[in-house]
Formats: sequence, structure tokens, C-alpha cells
Amino acid sequence: TWTPDHFVDSAVLALQHTIGPDDQVILGLSGGVDSSVAALLLHRAIGPRLHGIFVDNGLLRKDEFETVLKAYEGLGLNVTGVRAAPEFYAALTGLSDPEAKRKAIGRTFIEVFDREAHKVEGAAWLAQGTIYPDVIESVSVHGSSVTIKSHHNVGGLPDDMNLKVVEPLRMLFKDEVREVGAALGLPGEILNRHPFPGPGLGIRILGDITPEKVDLLQRADAVFINLLKEHDLYSHVWQAGAMLLPVQSVGVMGDERTYERVVALRAVTSVDGMTADWAHLPYEFLAEVSNKIINQVRGINRVVYDISSKPPATIEWE
Ligand code: XMP
Repeated sequence: TWTPDHFVDSAVLALQHTIGPDDQVILGLSGGVDSSVAALLLHRAIGPRLHGIFVDNGLLRKDEFETVLKAYEGLGLNVTGVRAAPEFYAALTGLSDPEAKRKAIGRTFIEVFDREAHKVEGAAWLAQGTIYPDVIESVSVHGSSVTIKSHHNVGGLPDDMNLKVVEPLRMLFKDEVREVGAALGLPGEILNRHPFPGPGLGIRILGDITPEKVDLLQRADAVFINLLKEHDLYSHVWQAGAMLLPVQSVGVMGDERTYERVVALRAVTSVDGMTADWAHLPYEFLAEVSNKIINQVRGINRVVYDISSKPPATIEWE
């Protein structure tokens, strides 16, 4: 029978057998469960010969980069944090089409990652946190003539380096990845984290992206996520976040008329993200989130809740 401990033991042996004794391995860390578990597994197998690269693309959640980098360091991982927000913002300037933004973010990520990867002497492998559903989805997406949304977390490796690819989680489902992560001592904070898209807030800011909009959305999103955690609702939804809409609406504050931005809250229940229902969060809770965002985040004067299910709506708005 499959147990996480057996999986860890046999995966560690297999990795030690496959990866040569002097080979260095590069892995892109995202702060998500999959790449973090892959890192811990590889770290157990080859120690500091695993070189994690964690890129701050300027589109992460509020304080996420610092918090997660600290967690990785606390786990003893050999990880380099790369602060590259300005590069991403530059690449995104003037872009508002969702796919164009995804491509710009993906391209910039590869450039930054590639640059860091070249600094690792003796690099022979690129490790990836690909899990079974990614394998299936990338086959079906690329096998059909229509791409609904291009996901950039599969593929995109530095090609002039001739790296071989190693994907130790390739046969695992998400719940198994979490069990393996728990067996390897991954902190609950990362283990139970909601999925978060590679392009991050870049596809939750509808239209063009500016550092000011990122700041606004980060603060609204943090209010929502922190309250979900405080009210013990976080683990009951599959994914949650806020979207910054490209419209302004009229409001009133004191005896002043305001004309500010609208944030849409999105929370869904799901098993695998392929289908999803909007989460039936309590009205009192939504009221608290709305009040807190409007009171604390100057520049947002209206909060709405997305009550669309997937299909036909998608989880992300872009
Ligand atoms: P949708 O919006 O298609 O999202 O219902 C399904 C799941 O995929 C995530 N998602 C992405 N993840 N790159 C990613 O790495 C992307 O471009 C991307 N677009 C959507 C989304 O957050 C949800 O978990």
C-alpha cells in the first residue's frame, strides 16, 4: 500500500541513484506546495546540491516573498531569493490583454531564472514540482487546437544549459503531495496553502498593471485572506483571492464624493480546480471583509462578491 513514508524512502533512493554524485540540481521555488515538497524531497536526497531559486516577480501576495523565503531558509534549503519586481513591471508596461500579460510574465520569469541558473556551477539537472494533474492537463491543452489559458508552470527551461529534467512528484495527486510534504516536515503554513497562479496578481489586476495597483490589491487581498484564516474558513475553501477591477465607481465619505476602484472577492470550493462552485461564505463574514477593506484601503470604495461557478466562469477573471 502507498504511504507517504514509503514514497519518501523510495523517491530519495531513486533520486540518489539517478543524479550523479557531483551533479548540481536547480529548482524554481514558488512558495506553493508542489515546488516546496519537491525541494524538500530533493534536499533529503542530495542536500545542498539542490539549488532553489525563488523569484519575487512583484506579483506575489503581500509580504509573501519575505515570509516564504524565511520559511525555506528555516528548513535548511539552499535557496536564493531574487528580487526582480522592476523587471516584471517593465515587461508589463502598457499590456492589458490577459494572454499578453501571461506571456510577458512567463518570458521575464525565464530570463530571470535563466540568469540565476547560469550562476550554478556544475548544474546538470532542472527539477520541477510537476504533479500528475499538470501532466494530464498540459497534454490535453497542447493536444487540442485551442488554448483556453496558457499555463506557464510546465516547461520553459534554460535550453542552452542542456539540463536533464527530474520531476519527482510526477505520479502524485495533490492530496498525496500534501501527505508527502507533511512527512517531510513542511510547515502547515505552506502545506495547506491555497493554489496561486504563476502569473500571480498579474491576472487579478484586470487590464494594465502598475506598482500602485499591485499595492492596492495586495492590501485588499491580505484583509480577505487574513479574515478567512481568523474565522477558520480558509481551509474550507479551495482557493480565494481578490480581483482589482478596471472600473471606478462613485462613493461617499464624510461629505466628500469619492470616485475609486472596485474589488471583487472570489472564493470557490473545488476538488481539482477543473470545476468549482462559488463558496457560500456567511453574509456577516462578507460584511466584515467589505467594511475592513473599504475602511483600510484608501482607493477602494466598493467591494463585490463573485457568485459564478466554473464552468462557465473560470476561477480567475483573466
Ligand atoms: P481557471 O481560472 O482556469 O483556473 O479556472 C484554474 C486554476 O488554475 C490557476 N491558473 C493558473 N495557474 N498559471 C498558473 O500557474 C496561469 O496562467 C493560471 N491561470 C489560472 C487558477 O489560479 C486556478 O487555481
